[in-house]
Amino acid sequence: MNLLSAKNLSHSFDYELFSDISLDLNKGESVAIIGISGSGKSTLLHILSTLLKPDSGEVSLFGEDISGMNKKRLSRIKRDELGLVFQSHYLFKGFSSLENLEIAAILSKQDIDENLLKRLKIDKVIHQKVTELSGGQQQRVSIARVLTKQPRILFVDEPTGNLDKVTANEVMDIFFEYIDRNEAGMVMVTHDEEIAHRCNNIYKLIDKKLVKVS
Ligand SMILES: Nc1ncnc2c1ncn2[C@@H]1O[C@H](COP(=O)(O)OP(=O)(O)OP(=O)(O)O)[C@@H](O)[C@H]1O
Ligand SMILES: [Mg+2]
Repeated sequence: MNLLSAKNLSHSFDYELFSDISLDLNKGESVAIIGISGSGKSTLLHILSTLLKPDSGEVSLFGEDISGMNKKRLSRIKRDELGLVFQSHYLFKGFSSLENLEIAAILSKQDIDENLLKRLKIDKVIHQKVTELSGGQQQRVSIARVLTKQPRILFVDEPTGNLDKVTANEVMDIFFEYIDRNEAGMVMVTHDEEIAHRCNNIYKLIDKKLVKVS
């Protein structure tokens, strides 16, 4: 089943970033997007995840064009079905890690998975304030928060940027297992070719186009 379908997307800020980009994501599938810094990868992810309106083209989620959806329906889908793990973490800074997870759990009516916290190696720091954690720990708390919601599509921007190779691979294992178990899908931006190769499809954003690499 198709989770996401983007057709003929174009977008410019000061200059044209990309044009006529199309992309599909099916259940159980992962897509990696690579490309040099500034090529527009994060912008594309923002468009696919409903945060930004493209200049032209359309994005459908779960078979429905989002441009035709009313605000309430779109924000419900965003809250319940989409999991966003972005370059800046969007954690509530004044709260502890646990409180951040509890907010996600309450909003989505799901339980916090203790085992997930152990695997992300944040179970020991869960009572500390977010501001007292390292960048990599904050990143893993934000991953735990997103997975606690149990979204159907994960949008992940440079998930392993702050992590050493071993921890990065462990975090990726968690994402891939999550997709398998929940029949979810993932669109991931990464600079790491090795990690990109773990995805089902790899695309490169180059010369304003999205080119299939493998
Ligand atoms: N909100 C914005 N307003 C104006 N320009 C923007 C905005 N967001 C991004 N840009 C510009 O668009 C270009 C692409 O940015 P984007 O963040 O999508 O690149 P990226 O491929 O994700 O880069 P990186 O690998 O460094 O994260 C950059 O030149 C950036 O300055
Ligand atoms: Mg980026």
